[in-house]
Amino acid sequence: MAQKNGEEKVFVRGMEGVVAAETNISYVDGVHGRLYYQGYDIHDIAEEVSFSETVFLLWNGRFPTKEENDRLRSEIVSEMRIPSQVVEMLKLIPPNGHPMTVLADAVCILGIFDPEAADNSAQANKRKAKRLLAQIPTVIADLHRLRKGLPLLSPDPHYGISDNLLYMMRGTVPNDMERKVMDLLMVLHADHGMNASTFTARVIASTLSDMHSALTGAIGALKGSLHGGANQRVMEMILQIGKVDLVQEYIAGMLENKQRIMGFGHRVYKTEDPRARHLRKYSQMLCEMKGQQELYDISHRIEDIVREAKGIYPNVDFYSATVQNALGIPPEFFTTMFAASRAAGWIAHIMEQYNDNRLIRPTSKYTGELGLPFVPMGQRKAPKA
Ligand code: COA
Repeated sequence: MAQKNGEEKVFVRGMEGVVAAETNISYVDGVHGRLYYQGYDIHDIAEEVSFSETVFLLWNGRFPTKEENDRLRSEIVSEMRIPSQVVEMLKLIPPNGHPMTVLADAVCILGIFDPEAADNSAQANKRKAKRLLAQIPTVIADLHRLRKGLPLLSPDPHYGISDNLLYMMRGTVPNDMERKVMDLLMVLHADHGMNASTFTARVIASTLSDMHSALTGAIGALKGSLHGGANQRVMEMILQIGKVDLVQEYIAGMLENKQRIMGFGHRVYKTEDPRARHLRKYSQMLCEMKGQQELYDISHRIEDIVREAKGIYPNVDFYSATVQNALGIPPEFFTTMFAASRAAGWIAHIMEQYNDNRLIRPTSKYTGELGLPFVPMGQRKAPKA
């Protein structure tokens, strides 16, 4: 007779509410719809600080002085070149390879070329952190341009991280409004508590694996449509709907079929995601500027209908879609933009994990049988159909 597992363990589906780490980096207040980076309310800082200041804040726990910010920004921009072998690898990948998969592969391979790959000291990790944050935008831009058959561009030392990403990708100098919005987009995506990809990064770091491996895993987690991959799906849905007048019928049909509306709902926020407020505003402004008013109108109509029908709110991915589209970024690259920004948060969490590490090794509630009698292969019978 098979025995039963006698252990009493509590299983929490999706680990909702389970505390997996202590952190100073960011706090998501789901009840009040607030997000804090190192204690600063995102509403107070989002439109005031640059992405490089945000990176400094997340990595150091305080905002930089002007000199410190200029130094970090130029150090990162000066590290943006990637090894020619990685460019060759990008050329070999078939065009149907999703940019997030290619990005994960490239980050993993960049680790092989990193001069300090095997050095997990805090000092080496600080240098690797800057290199990674610098090289990810170049991988994204190069992949896009290779797929379009366009020549690759070098970063412009006069620009920062986000405007260089946009410039190297599109090949045109972003105007002031585009630079502001691109930087805001990256500020808003930089960190977000113990989300799935950050947890992945911390689990990998906790085994004392290296920073490149932790980021490779995090990119894989972010790719999924329940996480960062939602922004691409949002744009596909908006384009498929095509006209404001068709929104009601389309969304009603999806809800009737119990389908999830991408860009809505959140595990932690029970009210509006604070990042959506900023992105909604710039989606409206940019869409109007670019003659894409209907795309914003469709989004806004979706928001009204979903809120009314399900009582759920847009998350960061919803208005990020029309913002990125208006910036000229192709939908299949939307999630890579999220990754380029979230790399700052992942790295902060990896460093925090290394600083006070204990292997992350949870348990599971075993629901199978125990002590089954072993049957040698010659005596086994296939179950009856
Ligand atoms: N569209 C329709 N219904 C949704 C929904 C969505 N986007 N998100 C949640 N719901 C509904 C669920 O159907 C469920 O309803 P029910 O209780 O009537 O069955 C309820 O809200 C709770 O959903 P649940 O799956 O338990 O929430 P979760 O915390 O596990 O999931 C997400 C969180 C983010 C995965 C979920 O909201 C989702 O799938 N959103 C769409 C993908 C997305 O935008 N991801 C980016 C997140 S930043």
